[in-house]
Amino acid sequence: MNPVLTLETTAYTLEQLISLPEAQIALAGRSNVGKSSLINALAGRKKLAKVSSTPGKTRSVNYYRVTPHDFYLVDLPGYGYARASHTEREKWARLLERYLVECASLKALALLLDSRLEPQKLDKNLASFARTNGLNIVPVLTKADKCSQRERANRQNEWQELLGTRPIVTSSSNRYGIDNLWRALVETAVP
Ligand code: GTP
Ligand code: MG
Repeated sequence: MNPVLTLETTAYTLEQLISLPEAQIALAGRSNVGKSSLINALAGRKKLAKVSSTPGKTRSVNYYRVTPHDFYLVDLPGYGYARASHTEREKWARLLERYLVECASLKALALLLDSRLEPQKLDKNLASFARTNGLNIVPVLTKADKCSQRERANRQNEWQELLGTRPIVTSSSNRYGIDNLWRALVETAVP
């Protein structure tokens, strides 16, 4: 049986975001990579988190309580949204960095990466920022249903080389890898 996810809080300010004392794992990644869809796949529910084909859908920060383990998954707004203004993107990047550095209860960053794309600069930058600040990274490849097994394996190798950790391959559409991901998240949050 997989854990149960329930929406607990929506945060709009950084202080709210940082002050939550319980263990949390944040889902970060470029806009449209599939963060909210992955929350739904993990929950086994279709409409827990709002999903959209238009990037930039998630604007607030949503906390999902994981029962019975008592930690939180945090669905963050995506970064690198091309149509947001430069100022807006910069502002979000600063907020994200402050959260990663200042949130003492943050156990790890689940870094979501598109299976179809070669390692992208923004993702590599975030990974090295997290690494520099001593934060654990759980790399996750998304949308595996959209590419061949060979392509996925190449992507896994590339990221393993860069991060020293092999990404977990997932698809929110056909639930591939979801049980593996749950196992990794629980092990990371409550070792
Ligand atoms: P922001 O909130 O804008 O940062 O986006 P997000 O990362 O939360 O992405 P979201 O889950 O809203 O999904 C973006 C688009 O990708 C939607 O059209 C989803 O249906 C699609 N998508 C997400 N995961 C998968 C997947 O595993 N397979 C396929 N084929 N499509 C997916
Ligand atoms: Mg989203």
